Amino acid sequence: MKKLVISALAVAAASFIITGCGGDSKQIVRLSHSQIETHPDHIGAQAFKKVVESKLGDKFEVQIFPNATLGANEKVLELIKQGSVQYLVVSTANIESFDKLYSLFSIPYLFTSEEAYNKFISDPKVMEQLGVNSKTNGFTPVTAYTAGTRNFYSKTPIKSVADLQGKKFRVQAGPVNVAMMQAFGAAATPMSFGEVYSALQQSVIDGAENNELALTDQKHGEITKYYTYDLHQMCPDLLVASNAFLDKLTPEERKVFDEAATASQKAEFDAWNAAIADAKKKATDMGVQFITVDVNEFRNKVLPLHEQILGETPALKPLYDAATAANAAAQ
Ligand code: GCU
Repeated sequence: MKKLVISALAVAAASFIITGCGGDSKQIVRLSHSQIETHPDHIGAQAFKKVVESKLGDKFEVQIFPNATLGANEKVLELIKQGSVQYLVVSTANIESFDKLYSLFSIPYLFTSEEAYNKFISDPKVMEQLGVNSKTNGFTPVTAYTAGTRNFYSKTPIKSVADLQGKKFRVQAGPVNVAMMQAFGAAATPMSFGEVYSALQQSVIDGAENNELALTDQKHGEITKYYTYDLHQMCPDLLVASNAFLDKLTPEERKVFDEAATASQKAEFDAWNAAIADAKKKATDMGVQFITVDVNEFRNKVLPLHEQILGETPALKPLYDAATAANAAAQ
Protein backbone atom coordinates (compact mmCIF):
# COMPACT_ATOMS: atom_id res chain seq x y z
CA MET A 1 0.00 0.00 0.00
CA LYS A 2 2.80 2.38 0.99
CA LYS A 3 4.62 1.65 -2.26
CA LEU A 4 1.45 2.32 -4.18
CA VAL A 5 0.87 5.69 -2.49
CA ILE A 6 4.43 6.74 -3.19
CA SER A 7 4.25 5.72 -6.83
CA ALA A 8 0.89 7.49 -7.18
CA LEU A 9 2.33 10.68 -5.74
CA ALA A 10 5.48 10.41 -7.83
CA VAL A 11 3.58 9.99 -11.06
CA ALA A 12 1.16 12.78 -10.19
CA ALA A 13 4.00 15.17 -9.37
CA ALA A 14 5.74 14.39 -12.64
CA SER A 15 2.70 14.96 -14.83
CA PHE A 16 4.42 17.65 -16.82
CA ILE A 17 8.03 17.98 -17.80
CA ILE A 18 9.87 20.96 -19.08
CA THR A 19 11.81 20.22 -22.22
CA GLY A 20 14.22 22.30 -24.27
CA CYS A 21 15.84 25.59 -23.38
CA GLY A 22 12.80 27.53 -24.50
CA GLY A 23 10.83 26.05 -21.62
CA ASP A 24 8.17 24.42 -23.84
CA SER A 25 6.26 21.93 -21.77
CA LYS A 26 5.30 18.50 -22.99
CA GLN A 27 2.71 16.42 -21.30
CA ILE A 28 3.89 13.00 -20.27
CA VAL A 29 1.45 10.27 -21.16
CA ARG A 30 2.08 7.22 -19.01
CA LEU A 31 1.19 3.82 -20.39
CA SER A 32 1.48 0.97 -17.92
CA HIS A 33 1.46 -2.77 -18.55
CA SER A 34 2.58 -5.89 -16.74
CA GLN A 35 4.50 -7.77 -19.41
CA ILE A 36 8.18 -7.94 -20.39
CA GLU A 37 9.60 -5.88 -23.26
CA THR A 38 9.39 -8.63 -25.90
CA HIS A 39 5.69 -9.35 -25.22
CA PRO A 40 3.19 -8.40 -27.98
CA ASP A 41 1.49 -5.96 -25.53
CA HIS A 42 4.75 -4.02 -25.35
CA ILE A 43 5.09 -4.04 -29.14
CA GLY A 44 1.56 -2.64 -29.28
CA ALA A 45 2.51 0.04 -26.75
CA GLN A 46 5.53 1.01 -28.84
CA ALA A 47 3.34 1.40 -31.94
CA PHE A 48 1.01 3.61 -29.87
CA LYS A 49 3.92 5.82 -28.79
CA LYS A 50 5.21 6.07 -32.36
CA VAL A 51 1.91 7.31 -33.80
CA VAL A 52 1.29 9.81 -30.99
CA GLU A 53 4.78 11.25 -31.09
CA SER A 54 5.02 11.35 -34.89
CA LYS A 55 1.85 13.48 -35.02
CA LEU A 56 1.80 15.31 -31.71
CA GLY A 57 5.41 15.00 -30.57
CA ASP A 58 5.64 18.72 -29.81
CA LYS A 59 2.94 18.38 -27.15
CA PHE A 60 3.06 14.84 -25.81
CA GLU A 61 5.65 12.30 -24.80
CA VAL A 62 4.48 8.74 -24.25
CA GLN A 63 6.38 6.87 -21.54
CA ILE A 64 5.87 3.12 -21.41
CA PHE A 65 6.13 1.40 -18.02
CA PRO A 66 6.43 -2.39 -18.57
CA ASN A 67 6.73 -5.17 -15.96
CA ALA A 68 4.07 -3.68 -13.66
CA THR A 69 6.64 -1.12 -12.45
CA LEU A 70 3.79 1.26 -11.53
CA GLY A 71 2.03 -1.54 -9.65
CA ALA A 72 -0.20 -4.54 -10.34
CA ASN A 73 -2.96 -3.88 -12.86
CA GLU A 74 -5.70 -3.94 -10.24
CA LYS A 75 -3.94 -1.06 -8.44
CA VAL A 76 -2.96 0.94 -11.51
CA LEU A 77 -6.62 0.97 -12.51
CA GLU A 78 -7.13 3.21 -9.47
CA LEU A 79 -4.38 5.55 -10.73
CA ILE A 80 -6.09 5.61 -14.11
CA LYS A 81 -9.33 6.68 -12.42
CA GLN A 82 -7.47 9.41 -10.54
CA GLY A 83 -5.80 10.51 -13.77
CA SER A 84 -2.17 10.17 -12.68
CA VAL A 85 -1.64 7.34 -15.19
CA GLN A 86 -3.21 7.87 -18.60
CA TYR A 87 -3.23 4.43 -20.28
CA LEU A 88 -3.15 0.87 -19.00
CA VAL A 89 -3.09 -2.50 -20.72
CA VAL A 90 -5.24 -4.66 -18.49
CA SER A 91 -6.98 -8.00 -18.68
CA THR A 92 -10.77 -7.77 -18.77
CA ALA A 93 -10.77 -10.02 -15.69
CA ASN A 94 -9.11 -7.28 -13.66
CA ILE A 95 -11.92 -4.86 -14.53
CA GLU A 96 -14.78 -7.16 -13.50
CA SER A 97 -14.87 -5.80 -9.97
CA PHE A 98 -15.50 -2.27 -11.34
CA ASP A 99 -18.00 -3.21 -14.01
CA LYS A 100 -19.62 -6.62 -14.49
CA LEU A 101 -19.88 -6.16 -18.26
CA TYR A 102 -16.22 -7.09 -18.50
CA SER A 103 -16.92 -10.50 -16.96
CA LEU A 104 -18.25 -11.49 -20.40
CA PHE A 105 -14.79 -12.75 -21.35
CA SER A 106 -14.41 -14.84 -18.22
CA ILE A 107 -17.34 -17.00 -19.29
CA PRO A 108 -15.61 -20.29 -20.09
CA TYR A 109 -15.92 -21.46 -23.71
CA LEU A 110 -17.67 -18.25 -24.75
CA PHE A 111 -15.92 -18.51 -28.11
CA THR A 112 -15.74 -21.62 -30.24
CA SER A 113 -12.69 -20.50 -32.21
CA GLU A 114 -9.83 -18.04 -31.97
CA GLU A 115 -10.99 -16.64 -35.30
CA ALA A 116 -14.38 -15.69 -33.82
CA TYR A 117 -12.70 -14.20 -30.75
CA ASN A 118 -10.24 -12.13 -32.78
CA LYS A 119 -13.02 -10.76 -34.97
CA PHE A 120 -15.19 -9.98 -31.97
CA ILE A 121 -12.54 -8.08 -30.01
CA SER A 122 -11.48 -6.09 -33.10
CA ASP A 123 -15.03 -4.86 -33.67
CA PRO A 124 -15.29 -1.17 -32.63
CA LYS A 125 -18.99 -1.73 -31.80
CA VAL A 126 -17.97 -4.24 -29.15
CA MET A 127 -15.60 -1.69 -27.61
CA GLU A 128 -18.44 0.83 -27.56
CA GLN A 129 -20.81 -1.62 -25.89
CA LEU A 130 -18.19 -2.55 -23.31
CA GLY A 131 -17.60 1.11 -22.58
CA VAL A 132 -21.21 2.12 -21.94
CA ASN A 133 -20.52 2.72 -18.25
CA SER A 134 -17.24 4.52 -18.84
CA LYS A 135 -18.50 7.83 -17.41
CA THR A 136 -19.09 6.26 -14.02
CA ASN A 137 -16.04 3.96 -14.27
CA GLY A 138 -13.63 6.83 -14.93
CA PHE A 139 -11.90 5.00 -17.78
CA THR A 140 -12.68 4.09 -21.37
CA PRO A 141 -11.67 0.97 -23.29
CA VAL A 142 -10.07 2.19 -26.51
CA THR A 143 -8.88 -1.02 -28.13
CA ALA A 144 -8.35 -4.71 -27.42
CA TYR A 145 -5.29 -6.93 -27.76
CA THR A 146 -5.43 -10.67 -28.15
CA ALA A 147 -4.13 -12.69 -25.25
CA GLY A 148 -4.59 -16.02 -27.02
CA THR A 149 -6.23 -18.92 -25.24
CA ARG A 150 -6.04 -19.63 -21.53
CA ASN A 151 -5.13 -23.18 -20.56
CA PHE A 152 -4.19 -25.01 -17.36
CA TYR A 153 -0.60 -25.71 -16.47
CA SER A 154 0.48 -27.62 -13.47
CA LYS A 155 3.13 -29.58 -11.62
CA THR A 156 1.27 -32.80 -12.45
CA PRO A 157 -0.24 -33.62 -15.86
CA ILE A 158 -3.87 -32.64 -16.45
CA LYS A 159 -5.21 -35.11 -19.00
CA SER A 160 -8.87 -35.03 -18.04
CA VAL A 161 -11.21 -33.12 -15.72
CA ALA A 162 -10.57 -35.78 -13.07
CA ASP A 163 -6.95 -34.61 -12.83
CA LEU A 164 -8.14 -31.18 -11.64
CA GLN A 165 -10.07 -32.57 -8.67
CA GLY A 166 -9.07 -31.05 -5.35
CA LYS A 167 -6.18 -29.08 -6.90
CA LYS A 168 -5.55 -25.40 -6.24
CA PHE A 169 -5.17 -23.17 -9.27
CA ARG A 170 -4.33 -19.51 -9.46
CA VAL A 171 -6.93 -17.62 -11.48
CA GLN A 172 -7.36 -13.95 -12.27
CA ALA A 173 -9.62 -12.13 -9.83
CA GLY A 174 -13.38 -12.28 -10.36
CA PRO A 175 -16.34 -14.37 -9.26
CA VAL A 176 -16.74 -16.04 -12.66
CA ASN A 177 -13.26 -17.55 -12.41
CA VAL A 178 -14.03 -18.87 -8.95
CA ALA A 179 -17.30 -20.42 -10.17
CA MET A 180 -15.49 -21.95 -13.15
CA MET A 181 -12.90 -23.68 -10.98
CA GLN A 182 -15.60 -24.97 -8.64
CA ALA A 183 -17.46 -26.40 -11.62
CA PHE A 184 -14.26 -28.19 -12.61
CA GLY A 185 -14.00 -29.61 -9.08
CA ALA A 186 -10.89 -27.60 -8.23
CA ALA A 187 -10.18 -24.65 -5.95
CA ALA A 188 -9.53 -21.14 -7.24
CA THR A 189 -6.86 -18.97 -5.68
CA PRO A 190 -7.16 -15.47 -7.14
CA MET A 191 -3.98 -13.38 -7.00
CA SER A 192 -2.08 -10.81 -9.07
CA PHE A 193 -0.07 -11.95 -12.07
CA GLY A 194 3.25 -10.98 -10.47
CA GLU A 195 2.62 -13.16 -7.43
CA VAL A 196 2.15 -16.42 -9.33
CA TYR A 197 5.79 -17.47 -9.68
CA SER A 198 6.52 -17.50 -5.97
CA ALA A 199 3.13 -19.05 -5.17
CA LEU A 200 4.02 -21.93 -7.52
CA GLN A 201 7.50 -22.17 -6.07
CA GLN A 202 6.22 -22.28 -2.49
CA SER A 203 3.47 -24.75 -3.47
CA VAL A 204 0.73 -22.39 -2.32
CA ILE A 205 -0.90 -23.47 -5.59
CA ASP A 206 -0.60 -26.59 -7.75
CA GLY A 207 -0.88 -24.74 -11.01
CA ALA A 208 -2.24 -21.77 -12.88
CA GLU A 209 -3.86 -20.96 -16.20
CA ASN A 210 -2.74 -18.62 -18.92
CA ASN A 211 -1.48 -18.43 -22.47
CA GLU A 212 1.89 -20.03 -23.31
CA LEU A 213 3.84 -16.78 -22.75
CA ALA A 214 3.47 -17.13 -18.98
CA LEU A 215 5.67 -20.25 -19.12
CA THR A 216 8.58 -18.35 -20.61
CA ASP A 217 8.16 -14.60 -19.99
CA GLN A 218 7.15 -15.16 -16.36
CA LYS A 219 9.29 -18.31 -16.07
CA HIS A 220 6.39 -20.40 -14.73
CA GLY A 221 7.67 -23.25 -16.95
CA GLU A 222 10.66 -23.56 -14.62
CA ILE A 223 8.26 -24.98 -12.03
CA THR A 224 5.25 -26.35 -13.91
CA LYS A 225 6.18 -28.90 -16.56
CA TYR A 226 2.72 -29.77 -17.95
CA TYR A 227 0.61 -27.44 -20.09
CA THR A 228 -2.81 -28.72 -21.16
CA TYR A 229 -4.73 -27.35 -24.15
CA ASP A 230 -8.22 -27.36 -22.63
CA LEU A 231 -8.88 -23.86 -24.12
CA HIS A 232 -11.19 -22.75 -21.31
CA GLN A 233 -11.05 -18.98 -21.91
CA MET A 234 -10.15 -16.34 -24.46
CA CYS A 235 -9.83 -13.22 -22.44
CA PRO A 236 -8.34 -10.11 -24.09
CA ASP A 237 -6.12 -7.39 -22.74
CA LEU A 238 -7.72 -3.98 -23.14
CA LEU A 239 -5.98 -0.68 -23.63
CA VAL A 240 -7.96 1.58 -21.32
CA ALA A 241 -7.59 5.34 -21.09
CA SER A 242 -8.17 7.64 -18.16
CA ASN A 243 -11.23 9.83 -18.71
CA ALA A 244 -9.48 12.62 -16.80
CA PHE A 245 -6.95 12.60 -19.65
CA LEU A 246 -9.31 11.99 -22.60
CA ASP A 247 -11.68 14.75 -21.47
CA LYS A 248 -8.92 17.35 -21.76
CA LEU A 249 -7.93 16.49 -25.33
CA THR A 250 -9.11 18.58 -28.26
CA PRO A 251 -11.13 16.63 -30.88
CA GLU A 252 -8.06 16.68 -33.18
CA GLU A 253 -5.81 15.32 -30.47
CA ARG A 254 -8.36 12.68 -29.54
CA LYS A 255 -8.40 11.56 -33.16
CA VAL A 256 -4.64 10.98 -33.10
CA PHE A 257 -4.79 9.06 -29.81
CA ASP A 258 -7.54 6.87 -31.27
CA GLU A 259 -5.49 6.26 -34.43
CA ALA A 260 -2.56 5.33 -32.20
CA ALA A 261 -4.77 2.83 -30.35
CA THR A 262 -5.83 1.22 -33.64
CA ALA A 263 -2.21 1.03 -34.83
CA SER A 264 -1.21 -0.54 -31.52
CA GLN A 265 -3.88 -3.22 -31.90
CA LYS A 266 -2.59 -4.12 -35.36
CA ALA A 267 1.01 -4.30 -34.14
CA GLU A 268 0.00 -6.48 -31.17
CA PHE A 269 -2.05 -8.88 -33.31
CA ASP A 270 0.74 -9.07 -35.91
CA ALA A 271 3.26 -10.03 -33.23
CA TRP A 272 1.09 -12.65 -31.51
CA ASN A 273 1.48 -15.88 -33.50
CA ALA A 274 5.27 -15.65 -33.74
CA ALA A 275 5.49 -14.92 -30.00
CA ILE A 276 3.43 -18.03 -29.19
CA ALA A 277 5.47 -20.24 -31.53
CA ASP A 278 8.65 -18.94 -29.92
CA ALA A 279 7.29 -19.48 -26.39
CA LYS A 280 6.34 -23.09 -27.21
CA LYS A 281 9.82 -23.79 -28.48
CA LYS A 282 11.48 -22.19 -25.46
CA ALA A 283 9.11 -23.93 -23.03
CA THR A 284 9.81 -27.29 -24.68
CA ASP A 285 13.53 -26.63 -24.17
CA MET A 286 12.73 -25.92 -20.50
CA GLY A 287 11.18 -29.39 -20.30
CA VAL A 288 7.51 -28.42 -20.50
CA GLN A 289 5.23 -31.00 -22.09
CA PHE A 290 2.22 -29.81 -24.09
CA ILE A 291 -0.82 -32.02 -23.67
CA THR A 292 -3.90 -32.13 -25.89
CA VAL A 293 -7.16 -33.31 -24.35
CA ASP A 294 -10.79 -33.96 -25.22
CA VAL A 295 -11.86 -30.29 -25.01
CA ASN A 296 -15.53 -31.28 -24.99
CA GLU A 297 -15.12 -33.10 -21.68
CA PHE A 298 -13.91 -29.83 -20.13
CA ARG A 299 -16.47 -27.69 -21.94
CA ASN A 300 -19.44 -29.83 -20.89
CA LYS A 301 -18.44 -29.55 -17.27
CA VAL A 302 -18.77 -25.75 -17.22
CA LEU A 303 -21.36 -24.99 -19.92
CA PRO A 304 -24.21 -24.77 -17.35
CA LEU A 305 -22.41 -21.68 -16.02
CA HIS A 306 -23.47 -19.70 -19.10
CA GLU A 307 -27.14 -19.64 -18.08
CA GLN A 308 -26.23 -19.02 -14.46
CA ILE A 309 -23.98 -16.03 -15.27
CA LEU A 310 -26.50 -14.49 -17.66
CA GLY A 311 -29.19 -14.93 -15.02
CA GLU A 312 -27.05 -13.10 -12.46
CA THR A 313 -25.98 -10.33 -14.85
CA PRO A 314 -28.68 -9.83 -17.53
CA ALA A 315 -26.82 -6.76 -18.86
CA LEU A 316 -24.36 -9.24 -20.43
CA LYS A 317 -26.97 -10.67 -22.79
CA PRO A 318 -26.50 -8.35 -25.83
CA LEU A 319 -22.73 -8.84 -25.80
CA TYR A 320 -23.16 -12.58 -25.20
CA ASP A 321 -25.48 -12.78 -28.20
CA ALA A 322 -22.98 -10.84 -30.30
CA ALA A 323 -20.25 -13.32 -29.30
CA THR A 324 -22.53 -16.22 -30.26
CA ALA A 325 -23.15 -14.56 -33.63
CA ALA A 326 -19.37 -14.15 -34.11
CA ASN A 327 -18.98 -17.90 -33.42
CA ALA A 328 -21.56 -18.73 -36.09
CA ALA A 329 -20.01 -16.33 -38.62
CA ALA A 330 -16.56 -17.89 -38.13
CA GLN A 331 -17.74 -21.43 -38.84
C1 GCU B 1 -2.12 -12.59 -19.35
C2 GCU B 1 -2.67 -11.23 -19.70
C3 GCU B 1 -2.46 -10.23 -18.58
C4 GCU B 1 -2.99 -10.79 -17.28
C5 GCU B 1 -2.37 -12.11 -17.01
C6 GCU B 1 -2.90 -12.73 -15.71
O1 GCU B 1 -0.72 -12.50 -19.30
O2 GCU B 1 -2.06 -10.79 -20.89
O3 GCU B 1 -3.11 -9.04 -18.84
O4 GCU B 1 -2.76 -9.91 -16.22
O5 GCU B 1 -2.61 -12.99 -18.08
O6 GCU B 1 -3.20 -13.92 -15.71
O7 GCU B 1 -3.01 -12.02 -14.72
